[in-house]
Amino acid sequence: MDLVRGCTFDDFLFTPQYSVVERRDPASIDLSCRLSEHLPLKRPIVSANMDTITRADMAIAIAEEGGIGIVDRGFRAGDIEPQVREVGRVKRRQHGIIADPYTTRPSAPLREAAEAMRRTGVGTLVVVDEGRHVVGLLTTRDLRFADLSGTVANRMTRRDQLVVREGAIDAASAEQVLHAHKIKKLPLVDGEGRLLGLVTATDLVKQKQLPFATRDDQGRLRVGAAIGATGDYLERAAELLRTEADVIVIDIAHGHSAVMARAIDAFRARFGDVELIAGNVATPDGTRFLVERGVNGVKVGIGPGGGCTTRLNTSFGVPQVEALAACRAAAGDRVPLIADGGIKRHGALVQALLFGGDTVMLGSAFAGTLETPGDTVQKPVVIPESNKTVKVPFKVFRGMASLQAIVDRLDVEDAESADVEALGAEGIEISVPARGSVRPIVRDMLKHLCSAISYGGARSLSELRDMFRHDPQRYVTRLSESAKRESFDR
Ligand code: XMP
Repeated sequence: MDLVRGCTFDDFLFTPQYSVVERRDPASIDLSCRLSEHLPLKRPIVSANMDTITRADMAIAIAEEGGIGIVDRGFRAGDIEPQVREVGRVKRRQHGIIADPYTTRPSAPLREAAEAMRRTGVGTLVVVDEGRHVVGLLTTRDLRFADLSGTVANRMTRRDQLVVREGAIDAASAEQVLHAHKIKKLPLVDGEGRLLGLVTATDLVKQKQLPFATRDDQGRLRVGAAIGATGDYLERAAELLRTEADVIVIDIAHGHSAVMARAIDAFRARFGDVELIAGNVATPDGTRFLVERGVNGVKVGIGPGGGCTTRLNTSFGVPQVEALAACRAAAGDRVPLIADGGIKRHGALVQALLFGGDTVMLGSAFAGTLETPGDTVQKPVVIPESNKTVKVPFKVFRGMASLQAIVDRLDVEDAESADVEALGAEGIEISVPARGSVRPIVRDMLKHLCSAISYGGARSLSELRDMFRHDPQRYVTRLSESAKRESFDR
């Protein structure tokens, strides 16, 4: 603790060790870790529950890359459905076997079926009768060039032309059936022909292409969802769990609080041992407080976030490396910690993981990417060399406690009556240049993490963490001001 007191990422470098790996490659170096007690990940990356960072698109991308996204709760109080819809989109995105495929009726207007496909983003509807017997399949191909004034029965592929499987099937056997019959969809039915599920070739191909993706035991992508600690939080949790969110995060600015204690107790009383993470805290007392209340994971970080002004506005907080080391010592090995906030360069990732984090939560590092929510706006920017003005695409990134985010979460009537200046904002809103997909950013980060493991003399992330914890002095150098400049001023 003496080594890290008052310090954060840019205060340290690690001493290189004898390298033992042949390749610095995420396909060959094991980066597996735990998000929370019962939720393993193959990559230690978590996208932040912020309303300008994680909704379905981001959660899908991060889970496909081996991490997990936490869908924010930045929707209006009482307005639960939009968050539930985002979680549902992730859970339906990619499946081994779809246990509950979207259906339609033979008598339904084609226009209605086309609208259902557009709304859900799903390209196949199973056509069932009143008794849920499979009578056909309708795909986007059946609707191409079709006159939409008819009914589903006019365009569907009928049951007698389909290959249908009776009973359950595993992914490998399903692949064989699809291959043998040269088909792309395989409906599963019971002995009476009632719908049990659907296998699609696209999903099976995805499973193979993305071997590191974070999936539940039915092959669906995993996703987390954030709730608060007051107001609609229990109702929100109930709906999120009904949509099969894999983990709930009770996320408030100051998690070491009476409000949090009440919220955890009420959550456990209602939902039993559902996987639960709580935060944020930054002290040993705060960590023990949460662990003793039976949470499965703790989110660590008070004020390091890129969109955050808590330390400026209140002078409270703990430098993130000190917070991680202190919280790790308090949590022991039972409960994983999420190192939340302050990662501004890829090298800080391995520091967060060695000083105490099991995973790292990122917000501003992903700002402006394609998968973030929100519109892209064109803003005029002057090019200094030519003094010419060009239009550049920007997206908004904001702290969840920024004035704008708070006002957006209030009911319209409240917003009119609220004294906006008195809302006590602890975050900023900024425009960031729009960029491409988050996927190459994550892959780049992971490559750098693998390089760090190689420099650290380990074969895997968990081995590096063990070696580091066994003998931190061997690794850690505290930097002088000039060493910081030499290292990070570029
Ligand atoms: P980075 O540095 O990755 O951090 O952008 C993301 C984390 O920042 C926290 N956060 C906030 N903290 N006021 C705060 O004090 C805010 O308005 C705010 N918004 C986000 C949050 O923990 C997030 O995961």
